[in-house]
Amino acid sequence: MSAAKLDGAPDANDFFRLDGKVAFVGGAGSVGPGWGNGKATAVLLARRGAKVFCTDITAAAVEETVEIILSEGGTAQGFVMDATDSKSVQDAVNTCVQVFGGIDITVNNVGGSVPGGVTDLDEDVWDKQVALNLSSAYLGCKYTIPQILKRGGGAIVNLSSIVAIRMGEGRVHSAYTATKSAVIALSRSIAIEHAAKGLRCNTVIPGLLHTPLVEARLLGQLGAADAQTLIEKRNQQIPMKQAGTGWDVANAVLYLVSKEAGHVTATELVVDGGLAAAMPS
Ligand SMILES: NC(=O)c1ccc[n+]([C@@H]2O[C@H](COP(=O)([O-])OP(=O)(O)OC[C@H]3O[C@@H](n4cnc5c(N)ncnc54)[C@H](O)[C@@H]3O)[C@@H](O)[C@H]2O)c1
Repeated sequence: MSAAKLDGAPDANDFFRLDGKVAFVGGAGSVGPGWGNGKATAVLLARRGAKVFCTDITAAAVEETVEIILSEGGTAQGFVMDATDSKSVQDAVNTCVQVFGGIDITVNNVGGSVPGGVTDLDEDVWDKQVALNLSSAYLGCKYTIPQILKRGGGAIVNLSSIVAIRMGEGRVHSAYTATKSAVIALSRSIAIEHAAKGLRCNTVIPGLLHTPLVEARLLGQLGAADAQTLIEKRNQQIPMKQAGTGWDVANAVLYLVSKEAGHVTATELVVDGGLAAAMPS
């Protein structure tokens, strides 16, 4: 094949490589043993060559992720950060810039649900849901965007949830739904504002996953008899009959922050085994 025909085609050895890039990951630990989305994402980005600045509110969780990356020969630095606290986020961003010289990639993974309809939810629970799911993404973007622009552009991925686009009849999550839906709008707004400056911003929308969160939080919330019963019930709701994992989300994030997604911005990547497209039969 002539060289001209291959113009612009990706180099096979360079595919999805992030060498020389610095990634700032919010919520890079896991709430329990195994692989949550943030932990899998931090480790995967490091495996592809990025220097990963791992932040989490739990010191032990962030240390575990950093140790995994270092043990694999990757580059990582841990930082205890509360993603809902402006000062804490600013300290983390400044430290990342001091340690690694700048930021190219931001992943805002912090979030979690409290079930309840609008009339059930106490106002302080509502406010905390806004802080955890929406303000965390806002702060992560607000303080990393200037750094990304200083490098001539880069990529941001914010984490939403399938509840942002499909309402569950059986289980109402008004605050989680509203905030995770707002995350999509926030990403699109940032994407369009900065599109001409080389900064891309997208959202990953995970469906029903089997991450440590299921055992750590959902088991109690849903009052299920045991984890296996709950996991099987969730699997059966999914057209592919299998819940996704933290790695499925990490792979989607990797694509969106890679140069291979260089023309992809202001959009959403749904990782849900077909769930959002299905109609109950
Ligand atoms: N696991 C699922 O089934 C699922 C489905 C849809 C969407 N999501 C979304 O994926 C994201 C997280 O997934 P995960 O599997 O990594 O969950 P996770 O609960 O394991 O969270 C990752 C980390 O976030 C940290 N964290 C919590 N509050 C924080 C704060 N205020 N500041 C900094 N760190 C904080 C936790 O300590 C934890 O280590 C969330 O945004 C969640 O809404 C998850």
